[in-house]
Amino acid sequence: METYIKKLHDRRAIAAGGDKEVDAQHKKGRLTARERIDLLFDPGTFNEIDTLVMPRYDKYMDGRASRYGDGVITGFGQVHGRRVFVASQNAAVMGGSLGEMHANKIVKAMNMALKYGCPFIALNDSGGARIQEGVDSLGGYSRIFDANCESSGVIPQLSVILGPCAGGAVYSPALTDFVFMTENSYMFITGPEVVRAVMQEAVSFEELGGGLIHSKESGVSHFLSKDDAECLGKVRELLSYLPSNNMDDPPYLPPLDDPHRLCPELEEIVPSDPSKPYDVRGVIASVVDDGRFFEVHELWAENMVVGYARLNGHVVGIVANQPMVLAGTIDIKASVKAAHFIRICDAYNVPIVTLQDVPGFLPGTHQEYGGIIRNGARMIYAYSEATVPKLMIITRKSYGGAMCVMSSKGLRGDLLYAWPNAEIAVMGAEGAVNILFKKQVQQAEDPEAARKTLVDDYEENFNNPYVAAARGLIDDVIEPRMSRRVLIEALELTLSKRERHVPKKHGISPA
Ligand code: HXC
Repeated sequence: METYIKKLHDRRAIAAGGDKEVDAQHKKGRLTARERIDLLFDPGTFNEIDTLVMPRYDKYMDGRASRYGDGVITGFGQVHGRRVFVASQNAAVMGGSLGEMHANKIVKAMNMALKYGCPFIALNDSGGARIQEGVDSLGGYSRIFDANCESSGVIPQLSVILGPCAGGAVYSPALTDFVFMTENSYMFITGPEVVRAVMQEAVSFEELGGGLIHSKESGVSHFLSKDDAECLGKVRELLSYLPSNNMDDPPYLPPLDDPHRLCPELEEIVPSDPSKPYDVRGVIASVVDDGRFFEVHELWAENMVVGYARLNGHVVGIVANQPMVLAGTIDIKASVKAAHFIRICDAYNVPIVTLQDVPGFLPGTHQEYGGIIRNGARMIYAYSEATVPKLMIITRKSYGGAMCVMSSKGLRGDLLYAWPNAEIAVMGAEGAVNILFKKQVQQAEDPEAARKTLVDDYEENFNNPYVAAARGLIDDVIEPRMSRRVLIEALELTLSKRERHVPKKHGISPA
């Protein structure tokens, strides 16, 4: 037996890698595949599978194929005591490149995660398709993409980009729910050499697809971190807001914050002057448990703020207009951002709390040419499709199309409230008077005085929350300081909500 056990240990020692590999990664300012796994999981909980898998071919690989594991470590462990599957690419083995067996290992782990209802996390650090394995490698990518799609909406899938992620390989992360990047990682479809040759444009890796670019410009990345350790800490934090699968509820955390706590500071945070900006994150922090808000897509489409928080211990997804950026108007990016987040919340049983202060859609040719019509429709679709509790507070403006598209009664919003200063109307008083009473104003003896009377009259009669309240389009007008209490009462009522759609194969979300 001893001999057999020794043979096993020898193989495992080879699979574990050596100091040279550790040094190579550290020199690049990155951690090794195993160090990353150690940071991701609760200590001592990781179980490796397929440790002894080897590539089918040794040709062109100078005998390096004898390396066990084939460049990726897969297995399962615990995060906050809950089971999670991982695939961590090992940049030290042929650049972490993806060969046939490497792909098979990832797909096996993904299928197990799906079967047992556990989140799947991909830690990406790879030179892409393994050149020596040609089409076998490309076939592997297709199987991974398919597994991503099959798991979509059933188990949370997170992609963590910690090194290169190039070519078609970027599409697995793009198919998952959330993408994390470090400043020292990059993603692109075509590399700098191709861009130079085809487009005669010189760009660096960072300019083309660094973590900052994808977190700020393209929106591909939801979270940006300075290094591997910070990034894996954020992965653990996000998991604390998500259930293991779509049949579970998100993790409840016994609250320390008083559910009856009043929030008088809200009356200061939101200025009465509707033209004055404020940071909606102040409103969120005031209302939610312990002021804790885990923001998603913090650097992209900043005119819409989305993220996770808790109300009396229950996880909620917050969708809020941000008056500080573009006056909180909705544009293409903001719609796409909100729509994606709402669909994720709905898939994983996370109730949605909308904080509305929106003057309307961002006007202009840039938005029209970019397809604000079809992109704005994605947000409507997402709100309508969502069967989780949908709660809303209108904190100030709620104008025009924007009023209809965000969690409205028509879209089956559950409990909707407005503060007494709210302006709920088709458009602002000035604009309405200019259109409706143009002639009347022009013909008046004192046009300015006539205009002012008409504006005041419009504001008094239409531009307030009471018309919407009179029609039952909102459920009540509340004092700002009552917001936390009211939301918690509404949430705890609606947690038992059961709503079903008309049976269909699947809907067709606007593209
Ligand atoms: C085989 C690869 C490899 C690959 C890297 N290596 N990429 N082996 N197939 N795709 C090997 C190198 O030969 C080297 O082996 C070791 O990994 C480390 O690579 P270095 O270049 O020394 O490391 P570094 O300087 O850190 O650069 C990493 C890199 C670079 C940026 C990833 O290696 C690179 O550009 N590789 C090619 C990337 C690429 O074009 N991939 C194909 C994309 S297309 P030694 O023996 O020296 O240690 C694609 C299609 C996917 O992926 C389609 C999906 C649908």
